[in-house]
Amino acid sequence: MTEQTLVLIKPDGVARGLVGEIITRIERKGLKIAALKLVNVSEEVAVVHYAEHAERPFFGSLIEFITSGPVVAAVLEGERAIAAFRQIAGGTDPVEKAVPGSIRGDYALETQFNLVHGSDSPESAKREIDIWFPGFAH
Ligand code: CMP
Repeated sequence: MTEQTLVLIKPDGVARGLVGEIITRIERKGLKIAALKLVNVSEEVAVVHYAEHAERPFFGSLIEFITSGPVVAAVLEGERAIAAFRQIAGGTDPVEKAVPGSIRGDYALETQFNLVHGSDSPESAKREIDIWFPGFAH
């Protein structure tokens, strides 16, 4: 089924010069980049985006990190886009869960600095696209 998903290349990915590499992998997979922008994330947007993690012990450092430098935000479209991006991203923990060959498995060491975010369900995708690209979700 054709879906949309919201992807962020986090501040570590931008700072390390991995934007091109990550976008290449997205395109190689066959996912369409339907929207793309470089954003300096406000604390307000960060807190709304990560609202489901508000009670976690790492929430404060997550917000500090995601607002620490520009991120690349994108809407991807394609067949099973949500699962497809999560497959090429690899698991949240870049060492214990992400396999070699995935973005996190190849380029990340720490769970907080795991380079990318991808929506985890159609409901999350709609909610997150509404935050980053208002009016773009369908
Ligand atoms: P993301 O997919 O963006 O969704 C929530 C983020 O919280 C996650 O990727 C990680 O960057 C971060 N995160 C999850 N678990 C931990 C943890 N145990 N310690 C620090 N950061 C975490």
